[in-house]
Amino acid sequence: MTTILDAVPDDDELGVPAARLRSAELERQIHERPGRFRALTGDRPTGRLHLGHYFGTLHNRVRLQNLGVDMMVLVADYQVLTDRDVADRLAEHVEDLVLDYLAVGVDPDRATVFTHSAVPALNQLLLPFLSLVSVAELGRNPTVKDEIAHSTQSAVSGLMFTYPVHQAADILFCKAGLVPVGQDQLPHLEVARTVARRFNSRYGPVFPEPEALLSAAPLLLGTDGGKMSKSRGNAIALAATADETARMIRGAKTDADRHITYDPVARPEVSSLVLLAALCLDRDPHEVAGEIGGRGAAALKAVVTDAVNDYFAPIRARRAGLALDRAHIRRVLRDGNEWANAIADDTLKEVREAMKALY
Ligand code: TRP
Repeated sequence: MTTILDAVPDDDELGVPAARLRSAELERQIHERPGRFRALTGDRPTGRLHLGHYFGTLHNRVRLQNLGVDMMVLVADYQVLTDRDVADRLAEHVEDLVLDYLAVGVDPDRATVFTHSAVPALNQLLLPFLSLVSVAELGRNPTVKDEIAHSTQSAVSGLMFTYPVHQAADILFCKAGLVPVGQDQLPHLEVARTVARRFNSRYGPVFPEPEALLSAAPLLLGTDGGKMSKSRGNAIALAATADETARMIRGAKTDADRHITYDPVARPEVSSLVLLAALCLDRDPHEVAGEIGGRGAAALKAVVTDAVNDYFAPIRARRAGLALDRAHIRRVLRDGNEWANAIADDTLKEVREAMKALY
């Protein structure tokens, strides 16, 4: 029988072990001289962000921003169209995303929040970049393959197939050296690195090769044991109420062994719950599991629910306050877009110079 898990690419396929080692070294360098680095990361505005996003990347972005890294945060509105025909309620989702960012501590005075569609020069980079990758390479991308397997579209769109190249433009337009992401994004990082290398060797040095920065807890499973994802209905939203949170955790999949342990390989569902509690409590997951021991899944779920609701209470309160000032949200985006355009225009000029396409 095929299950959802079969389609999830494994660690080696994604290159996780090497990326983890490299991330540790990058962390050392960031701590030495944070001002040397520009980081770019982003999200598709398809609704509210969830706890997987938070511990996978949001938390890390805020940390980097606070250390003094130049943070670019992209609201990837064009990327929404990869797995659906129409971007429903887009403006609302964009605002929701910005609200989530601000609630978790992204600070518009120190970070740039912007959208794809407002930065024409970024999008123009897609054309020369597409010429640098083969159709066969695009077809091998494990994350895209996984998304195609889960897509509800009747046909695979050209954008689904090529969006990793567009994502390379997201990263390269601002010459970001660091890309803080979860491990499912590693294949896309490889595309961006390949595009940078090939562009430079074909036309001359313009782009630095970006590197992934994996955070400590990149993979939380959804409440059904599959990859946490809004569209699979298995994700706890950042902005969920305490009751909604409790309900979702109560319904989460566990296993038949009453004794709670932390063993992500043998017991992925139980371990993911343990990990979630441990992250919120800033504790070691083995210890958290050990304390619950033989009290079973119900006790585990009670611990997780309290931990999540306590941790997110201030973030949820801040979000509710910010939601009252939509004009502020729009201002944050307008300023971010203006700055992103200035950067993108400069880069496109360099690209056209390198391609001898200045007329
Ligand atoms: N693909 C990312 C996601 O689905 C979002 C994204 C778009 C992104 N452009 C990016 C992430 C550039 C990192 C860098 O979550």
